[in-house]
Amino acid sequence: MMRPLVIGNWKMHGSQASVESLLRELARPGEQLPADVVVCPSFVHLQQAIGLCEGSPVEVGAQDCSAQDSGARTGDVSAAMLADLGCRWVIVGHSERRQYHAEGDELIAAKITAAISAGLNVVVCVGETRAEREAGDAHAVVAGQVRGALAGQASLGGIAVAYEPIWAIGTGLTATPDQAQQMHAFIRAQLPGQKGVETNRVPLLYGGSVKPDNAAALFGQPDIDGALVGGASLDAGDFRHIIMAA
Ligand code: G3H
Repeated sequence: MMRPLVIGNWKMHGSQASVESLLRELARPGEQLPADVVVCPSFVHLQQAIGLCEGSPVEVGAQDCSAQDSGARTGDVSAAMLADLGCRWVIVGHSERRQYHAEGDELIAAKITAAISAGLNVVVCVGETRAEREAGDAHAVVAGQVRGALAGQASLGGIAVAYEPIWAIGTGLTATPDQAQQMHAFIRAQLPGQKGVETNRVPLLYGGSVKPDNAAALFGQPDIDGALVGGASLDAGDFRHIIMAA
């Protein structure tokens, strides 16, 4: 069985003081955790977070990266810069990037390539809106996003996929374990690569209002290999509880 992967996406939250207090509780040197754990603070807190996680099992990731290696791209951060800093992971294609920064599958695919070339592990996010689910289009939308994002990848090594139904993000509504499992099995079937061998090794994370009280039921599903946690990852006690349920 795959080791679970639990990632905290702190989004645009935090200060140096809150990063310090969260990681003093979460990133305990020498501790053994039942899952691989990653925290993704804002760009400006990455270096501080990497320092605070040193010697602990917690790794640090970024919430986005540029598709370009370098150049005149004011405000952008390259995957190579993240790797140089000591980041191990990057989130790509989060629905908030798709919605507020008009990111599409082609750009997301280029970001994945840039991140993998820089040696980062990537979490690719996919998920449908409430209207798409109600129209019966959820599977078609998610299949398109998975294929669009991963089309150019020769290998799936270093790639995780997070299924985040947009109607469940930050809303307190969670996909039921059955709904999530059903979509995860579908996503696994959409992955390029050798079925049942390579595709079984790709961690599929669920995201969308994961909390201490629903984590165990979600993690109990055969195709749910971990979680991408937003709000609850900003509370050390809640996030730890979710990790321990993995
Ligand atoms: O990246 C995390 C997801 O957007 C889920 O956020 O746990 O606050 O619903 P949430």
